[in-house]
Amino acid sequence: MLAGKTIVIAGASSGLGASLATQLSYHKTNLVLFSRNIDKLQSVAKTCEEKGAKTLVVRGDISKQEDCKRLYNETINNFNALHHLVLNAGISMWAKFEEITDLTLFQKLIETNYLGAVYLTHCCLPALIKSKGMITAISSIQGKIAVPEHTGYVASKHALTGFLNTLRMELADKGVDVMLVMPHWLRGTNLRKNAFDKDGNQIGESSKGHSKESISLEECSKKIIKGMISRKRELIIPGKLKILTWLNLFFPGLAEKIVMGKVKEQE
Ligand SMILES: NC(=O)c1ccc[n+]([C@@H]2O[C@H](COP(=O)([O-])OP(=O)(O)OC[C@H]3O[C@@H](n4cnc5c(N)ncnc54)[C@H](OP(=O)(O)O)[C@@H]3O)[C@@H](O)[C@H]2O)c1
Repeated sequence: MLAGKTIVIAGASSGLGASLATQLSYHKTNLVLFSRNIDKLQSVAKTCEEKGAKTLVVRGDISKQEDCKRLYNETINNFNALHHLVLNAGISMWAKFEEITDLTLFQKLIETNYLGAVYLTHCCLPALIKSKGMITAISSIQGKIAVPEHTGYVASKHALTGFLNTLRMELADKGVDVMLVMPHWLRGTNLRKNAFDKDGNQIGESSKGHSKESISLEECSKKIIKGMISRKRELIIPGKLKILTWLNLFFPGLAEKIVMGKVKEQE
């Protein structure tokens, strides 16, 4: 069902984006791989070609509107159509708000995680309407619930949730579906290493361990691809995390205590 479809993956050079690209290659897709690091993108593209995909690599920054437009133009010039847009590019932070010395990290988080998604979606929309395509956004469970030491990240992912839930309604009669993916912690990505610390520097190799409940990239990617095929509206990974979102609706104080305990476990 995905064979021959053209799929743009924004943020395809590492972690979940690279894993999704690899898994989508088995479906004989046309993949457009976009991010800032061209060497890493080319290495992902090589793996994808070996597994059966056709690939196009586009270097750019999602927070720059001109890069998003160039990505769109190169996609259409090469593959003549666009069927799936995967908004995966993202950056994070790990710092208590009262200790933060560099507030520009809030701007960077919003520009990449939220505004970048807005810019790229706006460029790609005409082609997605034409193909009755689909937008898949990798948000986070933090697009639904709050997590301490992540104020700017949580805010950017909540903004993404609000934007895409609204857009889904506007596109309902145009045949374009919108899926919000909300994963728990993922193992094996660069997100934590590249996250901003209180001074706006990258944390680097962190002493914070991953929770036992973190999920593998392969498992997460396979669930996302299933969701793309069945055109789901929301995907919480793992599914049992839905309990926390329900708890947050009806007993928010209890949900907060559970989340705070989980974050402490990782200190
Ligand atoms: N890791 C987790 O625990 C977790 C949990 C829930 C949700 N997520 C979400 O999953 C998505 C993927 O993250 P990941 O964990 O796989 O981290 P990752 O390994 O750091 O991947 C992030 C990707 O985003 C790209 N990117 C960052 N800034 C960009 C920009 N300005 N323009 C274009 N591309 C940019 C990076 O490529 P370049 O550096 O080459 O630009 C990279 O390909 C993110 O949206 C993240 O919020 C992660």
